[in-house]
Amino acid sequence: MNTPLLEVNDLRKVFVDRDFETPVLKGVNFTLQRSEMVAMLGPSGSGKSTLLSILGTLMRPTAGSFRMLGRELTSLKEAELSDFRNQQIGFIFQYHHLLPDFSALENVMFPHAGRLWRETQAGRERAAMLLERVGLSERMHYRATRLSGGQKQRVAIARALMNQPALVLADEPTGNLDRENADQAFALMTEIQRETGTTFLLSTHDRELAERCERRIYIQGGVVVDVPSAARVPLRVVPGDMVAVIDRTQTQATRDQRSIQANERSV
Ligand SMILES: Nc1ncnc2c1ncn2[C@@H]1O[C@H](COP(=O)(O)OP(=O)(O)O)[C@@H](O)[C@H]1O
Ligand SMILES: [Mg+2]
Repeated sequence: MNTPLLEVNDLRKVFVDRDFETPVLKGVNFTLQRSEMVAMLGPSGSGKSTLLSILGTLMRPTAGSFRMLGRELTSLKEAELSDFRNQQIGFIFQYHHLLPDFSALENVMFPHAGRLWRETQAGRERAAMLLERVGLSERMHYRATRLSGGQKQRVAIARALMNQPALVLADEPTGNLDRENADQAFALMTEIQRETGTTFLLSTHDRELAERCERRIYIQGGVVVDVPSAARVPLRVVPGDMVAVIDRTQTQATRDQRSIQANERSV
């Protein structure tokens, strides 16, 4: 059986504020396979965070549906949904969202222990193992406020993996980090993705990091497009130019765009 991990079908979202309607997602379709690392790119305001919130079951769509692990999530009741979310989906946000007065270890344990804090020895050991994996075993008992930005985001990565989710949704997970910490956090996510077979869907503005993912999805105008219009700039060629012809497939799109920009600079 090789059902996709996630099938998104004509997903729509309209925000309604009094009489004012903002259509944001206008029929999003795509599929994620198991064990993929996929980057989601799109201009600011194009609906990336909205889409991730809906897929994370934190927000209901206006119309359309999606199936995860063969289950139709749009029709589940709140209680079932929250169990499913807790077991199958991990979240990483741009701002770590750690509990400031809790230690790194307690923050990682949180998805396992829950609000009523029912911790187990196995849970504590798994959290410690994850913190070791992200290079923070020495900081395990530090309060979140005493960690650097890069360290906090590594705690957030460990926390997202606590319940061994099938899917990790990451909303600009490196957007708040400097280059070095962004590279480090991204490398960690890539390694862990390979080790565990967890699927990662991460939104990012960082084209370099997106290029390192196995696949890219572009959101533009409320839908998933094959090639963003920014990459469809007509190429001007003048005598004396050296022009590389690149296959304009989806995975080549950002590279295309770069070679076009480079070419325009040289004209
Ligand atoms: N709760 C909300 N109510 C009304 N409009 C919203 C709400 N959340 C987001 N939006 C609007 O939806 C659009 C997409 O936002 P968002 O999903 O945050 O985009 P992105 O993450 O791609 O920058 C924006 O125009 C934003 O103003
Ligand atoms: Mg966003």
